[in-house]
Amino acid sequence: MRNNRWYPLYHVAAPIGWINDPNGFCMYQGEYHLFYQYHPHSAQWGPMYWGHVFTKDLVHWEHLPIALSPSEPYERNGCFSGSAIEKDNKLYLLYTGHIGFPTEPNLETIQTQCLAYSDDGIKFEKYIGNPIINAPKSDEIHGGDFRDPKVWEHNGKYYCVIGSKTPDGAHGQALLYESEDLINWDFKGISTRAEGNEGVMWECPNFTEVDGKDVLILSPMGINPEGNKYLNAMDSGYFIGTLDYETGKYKRGKFEMLDYGFDFYAPQVMQTEDGRSIMIAWLDMWQSEMPEQADGWAGIMSIPRELHIKNKKLYTVPVKELETLREEEVTHKKLKISEPTKLDGVQGITGELLVDVDLKNSANFTIEVRAGENERTFLVYDKESAIFAIDREGASVGPRGRREVNLTPKNNLKLRIYLDRSSVEVFINEGEYAISARIYPAETSQDIVFVPRDGELVLKEVTFYTLGQGIAQ
Ligand code: FRU
Repeated sequence: MRNNRWYPLYHVAAPIGWINDPNGFCMYQGEYHLFYQYHPHSAQWGPMYWGHVFTKDLVHWEHLPIALSPSEPYERNGCFSGSAIEKDNKLYLLYTGHIGFPTEPNLETIQTQCLAYSDDGIKFEKYIGNPIINAPKSDEIHGGDFRDPKVWEHNGKYYCVIGSKTPDGAHGQALLYESEDLINWDFKGISTRAEGNEGVMWECPNFTEVDGKDVLILSPMGINPEGNKYLNAMDSGYFIGTLDYETGKYKRGKFEMLDYGFDFYAPQVMQTEDGRSIMIAWLDMWQSEMPEQADGWAGIMSIPRELHIKNKKLYTVPVKELETLREEEVTHKKLKISEPTKLDGVQGITGELLVDVDLKNSANFTIEVRAGENERTFLVYDKESAIFAIDREGASVGPRGRREVNLTPKNNLKLRIYLDRSSVEVFINEGEYAISARIYPAETSQDIVFVPRDGELVLKEVTFYTLGQGIAQ
């Protein structure tokens, strides 16, 4: 029996084994499907399979059998990341066949794009003509790192963007392809390339339309730290711009982060039937310590986040469907707090906490979550610098450290915090910023404590919802 002490109640995770990137996030015949990079044989990364879950409502997920296994010579070391699309009632998966590093480092790394399809969305067959796209022979494109195809439809044609880098390994870049039938693909060119400190290899690129703009969401490797930004092993972020489908060129602004916490990588986006762009990421980070490996599993997905553009920034907010997970509600209004305070009914292993702070009349403060005798996670606000931080220095198990985001000072601070057995995701000011982390508290650590520092904390309103179960235990 699996020890469930850190197993999520409503985030997607595999029943057992290792997961990383979300893959193939799509709608097929009226239901959402999500696949993920999967190593079912251990809680460590290994030759990749595609695990599979589906949901009708983006909240209650059910496990399905493994969709792809590395069975063919062109994918002998793994079925790497990719995407999915429905065409003529079939579900197509476009993914990277991987040969070489790190499973067989003595082999030359070869990455090609491959196709699999299904009549029922459950059992997949590999296309006989695989691979369908080989790395272009070009002195501007590295021949080895060529992966993570993301497919979409636009004006009756199919497009796909693939992660790449320059041959000298100095700049990440996104390659654009076009197709009439998902099988034969024409290379349109290098859509955009890293400039300055934007990464040396771009993984998992996604183009998606948000509020009339073309947004490129991607996961660059090798961005150097800048102040309190880019402190994790890898980063994910976005550009806002315009994609010219004729030339394949993408005109865009500068790189911005999607989540300022410790654990958020390889986000994938899908477009719902009602036109929303929804993103799910791996709520973990390469090279991070993952204590749940001791329990035979590793890795969870973020909650689905809806994308919007406001003030030329990408906002990420929990999808509205998540409200259906709410059970009991407790609200406290107009509070003036001058010492560490717990509020009636505001505590739990999981839950959704809404906090509306009157910043104008408050001093610095901390909210402690998953707090217990031996541990706590600090959510810290510092008034003078307008910095909001997640601080794991109070952890008794698992990784520590602190991540920060610089806010624009305002009179109010609105926090929406999702707690699960081993995660915390904070959405600030209606999605202007997000900051997330894996945490590993004991099940007995359930307190939420409001701690004013150097003065009073004035709360306009605090609401806490207990949340139901979204994934099989
Ligand atoms: C990103 C990534 C992808 C690759 C996959 C392998 O986390 O490195 O580029 O396809 O993971 O599991």
